[in-house]
Amino acid sequence: MLKAVILIGGPEKGTRFRPLSLDIPKPLFPVAGKPIIQHHIEACVRLKELKEILILGFYPVSQMQQFVSNMQNLYDVSIRYLQEFTTLGTAGGMYHFRDQIRLGNPSSFFVLNGDVCADFPLQKLYDFHLSKENKSLITIMGTEATRQQSLHYGCLVCDKNGIVSHYVEKPSSYVSTLINCGVYVCSMDIFSVLASIFYSKQQDFSSYNNGNGKEIGHIQWEQEVLTPLAGTGKLFALSVSNWWSQIKTAGSAIYANRHYLVLYKEMHPERLTNSGMKANDSTDGTLICNIYPDVHIHPTASVHPTATLGPNVSIGPGVVIGPGVRIRESIILDNAVIKDHTIVLYSIIGRGSQIGCWSRVEGTPSDPDANKPFAKMENPPLFNSEGRLNPSITILGYSVTVPSEMILLNSIVLPHKELSRSFKNEIIL
Ligand code: GTP
Repeated sequence: MLKAVILIGGPEKGTRFRPLSLDIPKPLFPVAGKPIIQHHIEACVRLKELKEILILGFYPVSQMQQFVSNMQNLYDVSIRYLQEFTTLGTAGGMYHFRDQIRLGNPSSFFVLNGDVCADFPLQKLYDFHLSKENKSLITIMGTEATRQQSLHYGCLVCDKNGIVSHYVEKPSSYVSTLINCGVYVCSMDIFSVLASIFYSKQQDFSSYNNGNGKEIGHIQWEQEVLTPLAGTGKLFALSVSNWWSQIKTAGSAIYANRHYLVLYKEMHPERLTNSGMKANDSTDGTLICNIYPDVHIHPTASVHPTATLGPNVSIGPGVVIGPGVRIRESIILDNAVIKDHTIVLYSIIGRGSQIGCWSRVEGTPSDPDANKPFAKMENPPLFNSEGRLNPSITILGYSVTVPSEMILLNSIVLPHKELSRSFKNEIIL
């Protein structure tokens, strides 16, 4: 029997995802019509030995329980949310809830960072872990990055058998282009390693009585577990070439949306709206609208047949799209209304936002450099060194109103704003 742990952090994390994470926990933000971590859950439930998924974080239970019960109804495995009493770091929560993870005697368990998106090759990773015949305490899913970008990730050096000899988290100079994807298979013996880290930290804590301002149970997986295990012969890595990316900024949600829509073609074609599809209530063969694949439209959304959507568009529940509207490379969240002849490009439109007629809402993509093999998204900070807003996708927070005939370029609008003029390269607070 196998289990999976999904690490989702808490409200203080995911700051680069604001303002989208102001009204919904980042792990529940919909990408390709499904909450970010539902994609993790779907990858886990494909493994038939996997019987339980534990979601670990410090969001209040009230913010997670509806999602967890929805998931529990959808999938035939146990899915539970375990709330850390405070931020325990990427490994402290696993140690704190060790009895819950061990319950039922799983042979191993997966650990998945909640802020990544991927075509998760979990079976392949598990088979590789098994092939090491109990030698591997942790098997890391790795992937290639560019030399320059590797510095923003955990870097691994490993031999041809996958034994990791060196692990450095976000090194200050070049170590390796093989990076950690934040997806692991762990043997149950990992808990004795976590226990010894916990007890040695407890000693330090009581002798110096400080704990560096962190809680006593705070353990960092990458720095305190992976780095010391490298070179012991118990840490392995499998390099994969499947699509993988982090979801740090709102711009990376547009990128993730595109790839999950592509994956739907194979796994869930029913979630895609294809060109030539007829509207449900059509008696005369009227099309839903003009489609450039890939597009996901929630069945409760109302899209005018003269609108043109795609590529890479997700339309949420209850959204209303008027005549002649053009949307590409964008995510439109629940109950937003986009009125006649408006154009939306590289943008995320928040829940319940309204955009009038003949407006233009446009952002700048931050896709990986297509000319560089293995390039990842840049995830630039919000402001450049001169204090100016870096070009980004345009984001309308929750319940924003944009009047007719306005232009909104590379701007971020916080929730509940009613705009009265056009904006370019601004944050509207
Ligand atoms: P940054 O670039 O600083 O974001 O670092 P990172 O990419 O290495 O991410 P980080 O190590 O902060 O987090 C990795 C994953 O663990 C993310 O999915 C976080 O949401 C999650 N995480 C981080 N801290 C905690 C924690 O204290 N508890 C839990 N349960 N999850 C956490």
